[in-house]
Amino acid sequence: MIRPTGPLSGTVPIGGAKNSVLKLMAATLLAEGTFVLRNVPDITDVACMADVLRAMGITVDRSGAGEVTIVRPATDDVVTEAPYELVERMRASTAVLGPLVARFGRARVALPGGDDFGSRPIDLHTRALQRLGATVEIRHGYIEASADRLVGARIELEFPSVGATENALMAAVLAKGTTVIDNAAREPEIADLARFLNRMGAKVLGAGSPTIRVEGADELSPVEHAVIPDRIEAATYLAAVAVAGGEITLTGAQPDHLTMLVHKLGEMGMRIAPEGDGLWASAPRRLRAADVVTLPYPGVATDVKPLLLAVLSVADGVGIVSENIFSGRFRYVDELRRMGADITVEGHHAVVRGQACLSGAPVRAHDIRAGAALAVAALRAEGETVIGDAQHIARGYERFDAKLRALGADVVAEG
Ligand code: EPU
Repeated sequence: MIRPTGPLSGTVPIGGAKNSVLKLMAATLLAEGTFVLRNVPDITDVACMADVLRAMGITVDRSGAGEVTIVRPATDDVVTEAPYELVERMRASTAVLGPLVARFGRARVALPGGDDFGSRPIDLHTRALQRLGATVEIRHGYIEASADRLVGARIELEFPSVGATENALMAAVLAKGTTVIDNAAREPEIADLARFLNRMGAKVLGAGSPTIRVEGADELSPVEHAVIPDRIEAATYLAAVAVAGGEITLTGAQPDHLTMLVHKLGEMGMRIAPEGDGLWASAPRRLRAADVVTLPYPGVATDVKPLLLAVLSVADGVGIVSENIFSGRFRYVDELRRMGADITVEGHHAVVRGQACLSGAPVRAHDIRAGAALAVAALRAEGETVIGDAQHIARGYERFDAKLRALGADVVAEG
């Protein structure tokens, strides 16, 4: 439940990146022994990935603050299956596919099924594994993959898919010989995964660029690693100050990972600058509307699109947001409209006519970013906004309500 309070002010710490830690957890399948991950956010998707690993016979201990200790037992004690009940809860569970085939020679991973984002196939993941010599079959709703030992190959991705790049990378590190992944995704989370793998003894070059080269290793070892900061969490608090006005500091945010968004918000009238180990941001007056296009990294991330729609809903003028990653992902628009936002969707474009103020209403969060965007919009919505299914927000945001309260927002979370 959120009521507007005017300009925000204060400091918020940015936690570890959800979309990095989930893949690092999957990558621990690649070596026997004890791993320690630091700067791990306390979010339900991490709990879900912990359940996926536990179902495979792996020990996951989350008792240390911001720390996860993972003990991968000997090969014979690992169950090489990710069941539907867990994959359905969280799509990112499919990240175990590559490491399982590479390390154990077999994997049985449920197909994730649909969501609100439009069609989300995983054909690029399975084709990459086939290129490395795996046999892949889809049976009874499961991907069944096997290989005696994967063999390095050239993998040309049709689209720079984040998940396919990661699965290909985690498979290639134990393949025999050299793998080159062309048109690879360049997201900072991929570079973090490569750093983690290299620390384990892998030889990965070029991660973060469109061409990744991997020299396969025979064996890898467990390591300790600190997760990079969550750029989408940082973007969320930037959007909050863009909507509510004010001046905030985000400690631990990595400005280099937010270049395009910072540029776009600057064009709209925000002032954002690196400060200490993070970012300082101020929105001294109502922002001007601007057009935004989502693109693979380093473009503006599709994950910030719902937040940008919230920002444009109260900006001065008309802005067009064009989506280039997912075919759907507009369901929350109806929820924003319930709050008085003027948004028209034409194919993959959303035309947003800014209002001086929105109007608080009961709304529903259908996914993580949609939930965060509704909360951000509520900061300039007269009266009270009650977000149903707000548990989606906790999948990707640690202490979301408390962090907003630290900036002066009036937020009450129940349940
Ligand atoms: N695609 C295919 N075939 C594939 C894989 C992807 O056609 O085999 C298409 C998708 O349909 C989509 C595009 O490629 O149109 C991009 O999908 P991508 O594989 O890059 O996305 P993802 O790996 O499934 C990750 C993040 C998402 C984020 C996207 C895009 C994780 C756990 N998820 O998903 O984050 O939106 O990259 O940047 O890393 C979130 O955090 O809320 C979230 C949804």
